[in-house]
Amino acid sequence: MTFVRNTWYAAGWCHELTDAALVARTILNEPVVLFRQPNGAVVALADRCPHRFVPLHKGKLKDGLLECGYHGLCFDGTGACVTNPHGDHLIPKAARVKSYQLAERDGIVWIWMGNPALADEAKIIPFPQFGGNPSFTCVYGYLRVAANYQLISDNLLDLTHGQYIHPMFTSAKGPSVFEPSPDTNEFTVWARFMRRSQYPNKYFQFLGYPEDKLGDHRNVMRWNPPGVLLLDVGMTGVGEPVENGLSIPTAHLLTPETDTTSHYFWGMARDFRREDDAFSKKLLQVGIDIFDNEDKPMIEAQQRGMGETTDLMSLKPVLLTTDGPSVRARRIVQRLVEDERV
Ligand code: FES
Ligand SMILES: [Fe+2]
Repeated sequence: MTFVRNTWYAAGWCHELTDAALVARTILNEPVVLFRQPNGAVVALADRCPHRFVPLHKGKLKDGLLECGYHGLCFDGTGACVTNPHGDHLIPKAARVKSYQLAERDGIVWIWMGNPALADEAKIIPFPQFGGNPSFTCVYGYLRVAANYQLISDNLLDLTHGQYIHPMFTSAKGPSVFEPSPDTNEFTVWARFMRRSQYPNKYFQFLGYPEDKLGDHRNVMRWNPPGVLLLDVGMTGVGEPVENGLSIPTAHLLTPETDTTSHYFWGMARDFRREDDAFSKKLLQVGIDIFDNEDKPMIEAQQRGMGETTDLMSLKPVLLTTDGPSVRARRIVQRLVEDERV
């Protein structure tokens, strides 16, 4: 599969990169090792020593340098070998590894896998509720999904599935209603699902919405390429402005690992019960139950059903009205891939 390369992908959470941590992650089929230097800067290098091709993440950090765990060559943050502890101590010219551009924003480490000359941090999609915003408390999760990343994106752009695979999101009145809404620009897709004037489902009851009070549930997904999504999920009294109710902005960041496996980073932010750690733990568990135990098995079964194919549209799937946003998103990705070919 061809991926969009000149774009920012989530490579991890900032809090994963503590002092001694070496985080190994394959991204777009390329093994990468991530770490933080003593000055706080984050670094991503190709995870393969040029001497005997062992993974560099099996080494260790020494004063900001990454020492290979096999024969001790040391690499700096640019990927250059700066120490050869053997013989004449000379450093062969070829002793360097590729380094990738990174940026930290909103608690997310973003990586640029394409042409470094085109990397533009202004293009990073903002997630202002995350990464230490003083008005929000966040929980963060990660799962690896044995499926192409676009299948996860499709899942998130059609939330009618909540009725069928998420017991917390079911309603006696049936699935949430897809309300087509226009996209605001050529790189943003919106998908809106509403349950108007209904009692809260188990999720909103868990968040604290009164069981016996009618209200409007909303799930409004914002998608940006290639798989960067923010869900505005909330509930207010019938017809009330959204600011009056409960909401849990949820980030969904999808990064291809390989053609048929994906990294799925998610975060939930809240501006209520902010100091309640027990509630944070329960919310984290709810996220794990939903994403790991309910969505993931279905998406992985879908990928198995498709075989090694990653192009869903080539299988000529039946399309429903609710597939509009995911079809638009796929078209944008396709266009970006084609633009990079010329
Ligand atoms: S394999 Fe890395 S120094 Fe030999
Ligand atoms: Fe789901």
